[in-house]
Amino acid sequence: MRFAGRRIVVGVTGSIAAYKAPLLVRELVREGADVRVVVSPTATHFVAPGALRTFAPTVLELFPAEFPGTWHIEWARWAEAMLIAPCSAATLGKLAAGIPDTAPMLVACALPATTPLVLAPAMDSEMWEHPATVGAVAQLRRRGVWIVPPAYGELASGSVGVGRLPELESILGTLEAALLLGVQQPLHRWDGLRVLVTAGPTRERLDPVRFLSNFSSGRMGYALAEAARDRGAEVVLVSGPTALPQPPGVEFVRVESAREMAAAVLERADTADVLCMVAAVVDFAPRSSSPTKLHKSGQGTMLLELETTPDILATVAQRRRPGQLLVGFALETDSEWGSAQRKLHEKGCDLVVLNSLRWGAAGFESRFNTIAVLSRQGYVRMFPPRSKRVCAEWILQCVQELRSPDAGSGGQAR
Ligand code: C5P
Repeated sequence: MRFAGRRIVVGVTGSIAAYKAPLLVRELVREGADVRVVVSPTATHFVAPGALRTFAPTVLELFPAEFPGTWHIEWARWAEAMLIAPCSAATLGKLAAGIPDTAPMLVACALPATTPLVLAPAMDSEMWEHPATVGAVAQLRRRGVWIVPPAYGELASGSVGVGRLPELESILGTLEAALLLGVQQPLHRWDGLRVLVTAGPTRERLDPVRFLSNFSSGRMGYALAEAARDRGAEVVLVSGPTALPQPPGVEFVRVESAREMAAAVLERADTADVLCMVAAVVDFAPRSSSPTKLHKSGQGTMLLELETTPDILATVAQRRRPGQLLVGFALETDSEWGSAQRKLHEKGCDLVVLNSLRWGAAGFESRFNTIAVLSRQGYVRMFPPRSKRVCAEWILQCVQELRSPDAGSGGQAR
């Protein structure tokens, strides 16, 4: 359970997306968190307080009868993190200015300086793009507040744009990062850095209805893209076919085959500062793909002629410019350490992230992973099994150490 025993105050504020808050609270409780909820008066227009009370103690007023006295100070001290989801435009403005006029604002304004605050804004795109909101978000980011960017899609007004509450998984990922790293420190920010991530499997077509592929879910790569985004990096995610929602706040490039992935990566690799090649690229593709469905002929065998696909990582490594950092992945079933060492040197990576199907929590569909990081400088770090988002934070921590060796601390394994 990702949040076992973690004490979280969830704030729910006035956005239509407040109707999703009970699902979020229920998910946190399911994952082991100890949750308390604070709701603004406007949010009660969109969500029934009874739905929240079903899962956690819930306060609606500034002076709740059931918690007399300075309950907000006690709750703020109790919390290991506060998450406001959805966070309305009004709440963003009031957080920037520090106006404690609702129950969520009261707790947020009393949070100790070392307690991380995570916001998941949701509003119509006009409000998200309004200079007042843009200014508030920039100010809050400077103060070390974690902000999950809203997603693109259909909005309550009927228009289409940026403003939707991101998928719960995305919000919970950022909350995990905040619990691991605490209040965001300028030292750990990656503002202005360009990060390119490949993720998912590729599909190599045999005909219009069949393909060669593998079991990669894309979860590790998507988690890494979101982790880099949350540090302020400009992220490009080149993804093979996956069932995952597109992560908000990253440039998303959908590809199908290894060849398409190679083209998309090589087009963008030159401007990237950090390249994380997480994709499970299919190594062999059919030499030709039939334009029509292949039919069986008799009972005999069928011979498929395969050719190797371009090694994207090795190609990028050959063309790399000074200062670019390259992270490769190695998923193994045997001879793990030897293979990872070989990849580190043969493919020309700075870091190789090793995971083995033999290690406890690991594997394609799993939300968890067990990783080891091997560095060209000669170190090997083995990490305990954790969610893919936490593993992503550890990987970025290793990259951070390569960028500036004295800035790598923090993010201890809990
Ligand atoms: O050789 P192997 O597939 O095990 O190497 C894994 C690493 O190489 C991963 O980082 C993967 O994304 C990358 N790779 C690639 N292009 C390929 C095969 C693997 O970029 N064709």
